Amino acid sequence: MLSTAVILACQLFLLFPLALAGFYGSDTAVINLTPKTFKSEIYDTNYTSIVEFYAEWCGHCKNLRPQYTKAAKSLNGIAKVAAVRCDDQTNQSLCSRYDVRGYPTLKIFRPNSKVPSNPYIEDYQGGRTAKAIIDTVLAKIPNKVRRLKAEEVQTWIEESNGPNVLLFHNKANTPPLYKGLAIDYAGTANFGIIRNSEKGLSKEYGVIKFPSIVVITTDEEGEHRHKYSGELKKEPLYEYLSSFATPVEGARAPQKPKKARKATEATQHEEL
Ligand SMILES: *[C@@H]1O[C@H](CO)[C@@H](O)[C@H](O)[C@H]1NC(C)=O
Ligand SMILES: *[C@@H]1O[C@H](CO)[C@@H](O)[C@H](O)[C@H]1NC(C)=O
Repeated sequence: MLSTAVILACQLFLLFPLALAGFYGSDTAVINLTPKTFKSEIYDTNYTSIVEFYAEWCGHCKNLRPQYTKAAKSLNGIAKVAAVRCDDQTNQSLCSRYDVRGYPTLKIFRPNSKVPSNPYIEDYQGGRTAKAIIDTVLAKIPNKVRRLKAEEVQTWIEESNGPNVLLFHNKANTPPLYKGLAIDYAGTANFGIIRNSEKGLSKEYGVIKFPSIVVITTDEEGEHRHKYSGELKKEPLYEYLSSFATPVEGARAPQKPKKARKATEATQHEEL
C-alpha cells in the first residue's frame, strides 16, 4: 500500500511540471496541433511541414524532444515543425487517420503545386537528430525563387506585377531563409537571386557587398530601387518586405521563443 502511494506520488511529482509546461511548451517553436488546427496549418499552406505523432510516456519521444525542439528553432519561418500528442482522446482521430502504430512517428507533408491543399505525405525515415531532420525538410521546400542572369533581370521586372525582390549573393545555393520569404509572399512579390559574378549588374544597382537585397517597384514615374540596409535576418527582412507587399494568410511572422534555451546557441538558418 505504502509503496504504491510512494510510486504514485513520485509519478505525480514527475508529471506535474511536464503537464504545466506541455511536452512542447510555448518556449519552443514546435506547433502543437489538434484536429481543429491540423488542416489549416498543414494542408492549406505552401510551407513544407514535418509532424511528429507522439505520446508523453514514450521514451524515444523524450529522447527526440531536444533534437526536435532544436530543428523547430532552426526551421522557424522556413518550414513547419509540428506535433500531435496521441495519448489524448481528442487527438486520437488524427493519429488513426495517419495510421500511427508506434511512437514517435514522423511524417513529412510537402505542398502539391498542382493541387492546393493536397500535400504529398511521406514517412520520415531519417536519423533522429536535429541535423538529419533539418536537412531532410530543407530539401523538400518548394523553391519559388527565380535564378537569374544579368540579361534576364529587366524582362523579369517588366513582366511581373508586384514588387520584385532581388538577392545578390556570393553562394551557388539559394539560402533556405530566402526560400521561406518567397513562400511568405507567394503571389504578392517576386523573388530572384543573382550571383556576384554578374559584376555589371551589381555595379548598376550599386551593390558592393554580398549578400545584399534590393527591392524594385514600378509606378507611373518608372522604376524605383530600394536598397535594404538592415540585418539579413528573417524577422527584420520579413518586416521590411511587408511595407511593399502583403504576406500570404497564415505566413508566420517569426516567433521569438519566450525563453531562449541558450542565448548563444546560434541556429543554422537565421541569416542569409
Ligand atoms: C501558394 O502560392 C501561390 C503562388 O505560388 C499563391 O498564389 C497562393 O496564394 C499560395 N497559397 C497559400 C495558402 O499561401
Ligand atoms: C493534442 O495534441 C497537441 C499537440 O501535442 C497537444 O498540445 C494537446 O494537448 C493534445 N490534446 C488536446 C486535447 O488537444
